[in-house]
Amino acid sequence: MCGIVGAVAQRNIVSVLLEGLRRLEYRGYDSCGVAVLGEEGPRRARSVARVTDLDEQVRESHLDGITGIAHTRWATHGAPVTDNAHPIFSKDELALVHNGIIENYESLREMLRDKGYTFVSQTDTEVIAHLVHSLYNGDLFATVREAIGQLHGAYAIAVLHKNQPHTVVGARQGSPLVVGIGNGENFLASDALALAGSTERFIFLEEGDVCELSLDGVKISDRDGYDAQREVRQVAAYGGAVELGPYRHFMQKEIFEQPRAITDTIPQADSFDPSIFGDDAQTVFGEIDNLLILACGTSSYAALTAKYWLESIAKIPTQVEIASEYRYRESVPNPKSLVVVVSQSGETADTLAALKHAQSLGHKHTLAVCNVGTSAMVRQTELSFLTHAGREIGVASTKAFTTQLVALFVLAATLAKLRGHLSAGQEADYVKQLRHLPAALNSVLALEPQIIAWSEEFSRKEHALFLGRGLHYPIALEGALKLKEISYIQAEAYPAGELKHGPLALVTEAMPVVTVAPNDALLEKLKSNIQEVRARGGQLYVFADADTKIVNDEGLHVIRMPEHYGLLSPILHVVPLQLLAYHTACARGTDVDKPRNLAKSVTVE
Ligand code: AGP
Repeated sequence: MCGIVGAVAQRNIVSVLLEGLRRLEYRGYDSCGVAVLGEEGPRRARSVARVTDLDEQVRESHLDGITGIAHTRWATHGAPVTDNAHPIFSKDELALVHNGIIENYESLREMLRDKGYTFVSQTDTEVIAHLVHSLYNGDLFATVREAIGQLHGAYAIAVLHKNQPHTVVGARQGSPLVVGIGNGENFLASDALALAGSTERFIFLEEGDVCELSLDGVKISDRDGYDAQREVRQVAAYGGAVELGPYRHFMQKEIFEQPRAITDTIPQADSFDPSIFGDDAQTVFGEIDNLLILACGTSSYAALTAKYWLESIAKIPTQVEIASEYRYRESVPNPKSLVVVVSQSGETADTLAALKHAQSLGHKHTLAVCNVGTSAMVRQTELSFLTHAGREIGVASTKAFTTQLVALFVLAATLAKLRGHLSAGQEADYVKQLRHLPAALNSVLALEPQIIAWSEEFSRKEHALFLGRGLHYPIALEGALKLKEISYIQAEAYPAGELKHGPLALVTEAMPVVTVAPNDALLEKLKSNIQEVRARGGQLYVFADADTKIVNDEGLHVIRMPEHYGLLSPILHVVPLQLLAYHTACARGTDVDKPRNLAKSVTVE
């Protein structure tokens, strides 16, 4: 998704800006650009290809300067063509980059046209550039402050003006923006990761903040226009670029990293202690009588799995809502709810907005399950649990999902213990199973060659059905999402018992039916569902626990999983579905790590 980098220094900062864009590339984008200030005003290069192409243009045109901004764009308003790529100029005097969406851009555009501004792009961004230009009074910081008062929507912007050659001004509302503090130079970015090579000292701007970067300092004002002091945080964890190693794609690497990621995420203690969620967790957990979990995409499937755990182990009513639906729905707030947001990035706009909406309704107890400790979600919640998946590059989430499941299982077990539903023996068993999980995952990863053999077959299909029951229904949903995201095969998931209520009509010899078959209490019911498909000539591809005794037969293809892994079984069963999607996509030759139209971190609504 869109990315911003900005810098003011006493050296040529073009390489800093391009390196920042490179670090943000994995998020997905369809055009990019960079602008620097020269004596005549801003100069820019833009490309609808990759950052390497932009780099070449920059070299050929000898673009250099000590003050600049850069951007990767993921198109929302207007096609991914050069005219719509950022930086956007106003009257060749001002350059601006923008993440987010301006909702009232049409009325602003009319107002600015009346003032004589000509629009050359289809973007909503161009109205911000002309608006700031039209209000400019010699003080860019004050002008941006005034201009954002007229914007409705979500945005992070960085802007520079010809009359202030050593100044970059930024502002945020609903989209992240971070200031990087250097020595005699300062930076701005939508993600601290972009500045990893330049500084380890960051200020995470708050909603409504406006900042001014100059050579000797950073000035910040809050949403009410008052000077603000923000904490400078040392963040050294961003490190260098992530290497692919022996793997073909980051997604494959990340699938195989799951044993390590889970080991790092499982709490060290041999018991479930609420303090892992924060100092106040014990008190907060004692005050709640239900959970409301908000998330999007894969994270919402982790939440759905957790609902089964929370209700069966901790006996606590749990509701899961898609964040983008919850935020616009009239709901009945319950002050005794713990609102849990689940997110890999911690910056997903819909989930952040849903969290804010829940807070505005009076929900005071909030918890983030997140993979990024410095993210907005972690900063805006009372409690948090950090997963330690490490940076996930592939757009299709894999290790983030399984570590979220671990975190949510720990939450369920902790609440069960506090509520008197977990005996000492059960607690010891759960801890033991968690500790053994990485080894069990390794045995599932060893099934890759068998899955590759199936993927050849799948790569020639255009549709697939996924079935699961109970705790494994969300795993079927996740398997179908993985397949559609990266192989572009249309895939739908159903609770297997629902088959006969409609989707059975789709079953023919041409329709592969992927089935998640753990040896749990619903196995006999699932076996009946399998027969319903076979009786209609459907081709079943079943991932069956070794102790289910489901074996290959006509129309029934089986990959034997390890023996049933109890309540943690979903964490094992999702892995072959990740591998099936991955190898099917490879066989179809898609861009696995950057599937079409998708972005890693969805920071717009
Ligand atoms: C997963 O494969 C997807 N790329 C997507 O559904 C993702 O899980 C969703 O956008 C939520 O992201 P988050 O976990 O960073 O909030």
